[in-house]
Amino acid sequence: HLAASLEVEETYIMIKPDGVQRGLVGEIISRFEKKGFKLTGLKLFECPKELAEEHYKDLQSKSFFPNLISYITSGPVVCMAWEGVGVVESARKLIGATNPLNAMPGTIRGDLAVQTGRNVVHGSDSPENGIREIALWFKEGELCKWAPTIDPWLN
Ligand code: TYD
Repeated sequence: HLAASLEVEETYIMIKPDGVQRGLVGEIISRFEKKGFKLTGLKLFECPKELAEEHYKDLQSKSFFPNLISYITSGPVVCMAWEGVGVVESARKLIGATNPLNAMPGTIRGDLAVQTGRNVVHGSDSPENGIREIALWFKEGELCKWAPTIDPWLN
């Protein structure tokens, strides 16, 4: 577990339509920046139904699936790729529990959301899904694998 968390990983983070419409884009991006992760992809995007269904395909059999798909496709989302040591698990901690009622204060959902069906943000649940989801949501050429060119201590 400890060894895994020392790996540089990639995760797919998405601000859902409620987060965009409530003006929480800056606030949410800020939490990942301040934590110290590196942004490698960012776009505002209107998600086609087919893509939402592919993204959430593991939940296809759930009763909430149709509502989930109409929620995710109800307005633009902000798609992001973030890179860093242990970023997958760390981002899940910053995001908080799926049901905002169970999300701790200090987490994004704990501070900014009320209901499971309107929980403002998505984060990949494993390094494998991080890679899968980034490939699903971003095209070749949309990602920037940059290295800092200013003094890395000056942040
Ligand atoms: P899930 O992958 O279980 O949670 P998380 O987003 O924390 O990884 O579920 C995906 C989304 O599906 C979740 O963010 C909101 C929605 N959802 C519901 O609407 N109702 C539910 O009962 C569950 C479990 C999820």
